[in-house]
Amino acid sequence: MPSHSFAHFIECRLCVNVDHVATVRQARGTDEPDPARAAVLAELGGADGITVHLREDRRHIQDRDVDLLLATVRTYVNLELAATDGVLTLAEAWAPPQVTLVPEKREEVTTEGGLDLSNGTDRIRTAIERLRGVGSRVSLFIDPDEASVVASAELGADAVELHTGEYANSPDAATANRELERLDEAARIGAEAGLGIHAGHGLTYENVQPVAAIVDCEELNIGHSIVSRSVLVGIERAVFEMGQLVRGVRA
Ligand code: PXP
Repeated sequence: MPSHSFAHFIECRLCVNVDHVATVRQARGTDEPDPARAAVLAELGGADGITVHLREDRRHIQDRDVDLLLATVRTYVNLELAATDGVLTLAEAWAPPQVTLVPEKREEVTTEGGLDLSNGTDRIRTAIERLRGVGSRVSLFIDPDEASVVASAELGADAVELHTGEYANSPDAATANRELERLDEAARIGAEAGLGIHAGHGLTYENVQPVAAIVDCEELNIGHSIVSRSVLVGIERAVFEMGQLVRGVRA
């Protein structure tokens, strides 16, 4: 029986990325909204894991958030990082259950493209060894192509996160179907190589289901769309509560 066949019997896990809760907080430099509190509510809503990206420039998630999440998350924390010494040293001390290594460019708005594993991979290999050395499961964020999947297995990763951005940004259904086939094929190759298969980036309420249906896919990471929807589904109650405070005081 192939090693990945158990995936046929399990649902895909949903990891909720709470970075943009911190983005709103950082816009004011205050203490709300707190991503650690959002994580508790995400778990109550059924999240299977909580994902945060500790960027080198600390534009949203702060070191204190990771400290708190590691102490309070009841599911598991998936910590996204670039393979650079500063954050790796922190991650070694934290020893989170899972780390996803991502490429990071200072000027980008969000992660663009997967890791380039075509050459100069010593940095990634060393990062994997350091993180596995403290017991973290290590996933590599890669484009859904065979060469990247094979290179990830060769480097000793436990899992890969397939970049779904091209699929999500497809201009038409035919392109989306082709991108889905690429994801499916990369997932199959990775699972056969013994890698855990994760996927994410740009997934929304409209486009998620075909990706969740990929049988080898074990984990999805979704952030922007969930945080965006939270604002809309939550604003009515939030305004109602503030309205009660504003209108109740002169009675
Ligand atoms: N996976 C990785 C590696 C990411 O960097 C991000 C964005 O932080 C996501 C998934 C989630 O993407 P989105 O916010 O578009 O759902």
